[in-house]
Amino acid sequence: MEFSVLTVNPAKVETACLVVPLFADGDLLSAAAQLDDASERLIAQLLERGDFSPELANVQLIPFAPGLAAERLMLVGLGKRDKFNEGALRKALDAAFGALAKLPVDSVAVAFTDADIDDRDVAWNAQMTLESATRAVYRFTQCKSTPAEAPQLAQVEVLIDDAGQVDAAKAGARIGAALGDGVNLARTLGNLPGNICTPSYLASQAETLAGESDGTLTTEILDEAALESLGAGALLAVGQGSAEPSRLIVMKYQGADDPDEAPHVLVGKGITFDTGGISIKPGAGMDEMKFDMCGAASVFGTMKSVIALKPKLNVIALVASAENMPDGRAIKPGDIVTTLKGLTVEILNTDAEGRLVLCDALAYAERFQPASVVDIATLTGACVIALGDHASGLFSNDDDLALDLLDAGENAWDRAWHMPLWDDYQAQLDSNFADLANIGGRPAGSITAACFLSRFAESYPWAHLDIAGTAWDSGKQKGASGRPVGLLTRYLLDREGERVVTSEA
Ligand code: BES
Ligand code: MN
Ligand code: ZN
Repeated sequence: MEFSVLTVNPAKVETACLVVPLFADGDLLSAAAQLDDASERLIAQLLERGDFSPELANVQLIPFAPGLAAERLMLVGLGKRDKFNEGALRKALDAAFGALAKLPVDSVAVAFTDADIDDRDVAWNAQMTLESATRAVYRFTQCKSTPAEAPQLAQVEVLIDDAGQVDAAKAGARIGAALGDGVNLARTLGNLPGNICTPSYLASQAETLAGESDGTLTTEILDEAALESLGAGALLAVGQGSAEPSRLIVMKYQGADDPDEAPHVLVGKGITFDTGGISIKPGAGMDEMKFDMCGAASVFGTMKSVIALKPKLNVIALVASAENMPDGRAIKPGDIVTTLKGLTVEILNTDAEGRLVLCDALAYAERFQPASVVDIATLTGACVIALGDHASGLFSNDDDLALDLLDAGENAWDRAWHMPLWDDYQAQLDSNFADLANIGGRPAGSITAACFLSRFAESYPWAHLDIAGTAWDSGKQKGASGRPVGLLTRYLLDREGERVVTSEA
């Protein structure tokens, strides 16, 4: 999405559509007041007569308005001023841009910076605006024989009334547009069916991103032979029943001046389809297990944002990718595998496969001596029961890292909730035959899954995001959400310039 920042009187802006927010109570905001003056009190009269009710996310298009240079006017309700917060602004933005994406307009001018929120600056507001606009024009049409026409909207002019804030607004808009592109890439990868989006397809995505990166991103793809000689027995075990070969995908972004500066590592679960394997899942809704690579998708999406924004830090992305199928060669309950770290695992349920591919990627991450490692995974149904589709589950062995991620989620409005990772839960993973079992029984299912991962992440600050509830929507709106690209991108941007102090050996 293209953007520009303008400080002119909104009544004078020549645009296909001028978009103006209104609170349900109180005075007109700056842009609305100026338009009202220029248009014989058009807005005040609409409100007085009850022709427009500024409830939250209520949107009304006015085809033409006297005294305005714009071809159309769109009013957007913000609801009650005392209830207005980040979530409300996002609802209003999404309603407005959702409607604008259906209109025959390619450029709009918006006055959302009038909708001020305590503790949020113009840059933040402009970021939210461009992110929403970019998400609104997304359509997944790749698998339709005759795709519907794509939205025309391609440019947003951000109106601000303080000329001193132009640079801040531009900086925020730039982040929002890049973030939106990252979110949309994650949605596309998530939405692609399992017969197209295979581990090899994800590997080719890494090459594509490297090609777009001006040389800042390099990739390395580990195939099954490479994983075999490495000893990644858990990752290989999950894919051994599939005709699709498994892959460990490595992407390295170098943004720091010092190539040896400790990197931040992202690790994505890339199960391109999860049947459950021999511990097969019930049939109803199983199609949604094509979304079991949304952790990987969020890693690709974040890397897309990163190569666009070029922060000065080093990032390494790992995607552990396999297809989980039942087969004559598939792993069975009771099988014992040796992981890359050397620990042996008794596979009591082949449907707990995410932790198996991730544990080898987490062990692989050690070689980078990372500043932090964050894995992202659609790991447990239990997390959906615990948190629903609003918050991702956050688990960490480092409280500072956990706070940084919670902060990033609040800032990007892509929130996570801190869950316990106490030693008390570890005993649920005891095995009579191997070092540990891959399931811990029904109680605290998402915590024991995180406990399993923690055994492979002991040598660095590590966090795990369980996105089983947040990565996609079900029902009529079925589709990948692109979360938590917002949280991850903000987390990385906040690390820029933060020099990691490494202790002398
Ligand atoms: N991919 C699933 C988790 C999942 C299920 C995400 C439903 C979103 C919606 C994961 O591989 C899985 O099957 N987990 C099992 C673990 C169990 C066997 C311990 C689960 O949650 O049932
Ligand atoms: Mn599973
Ligand atoms: Zn899974």
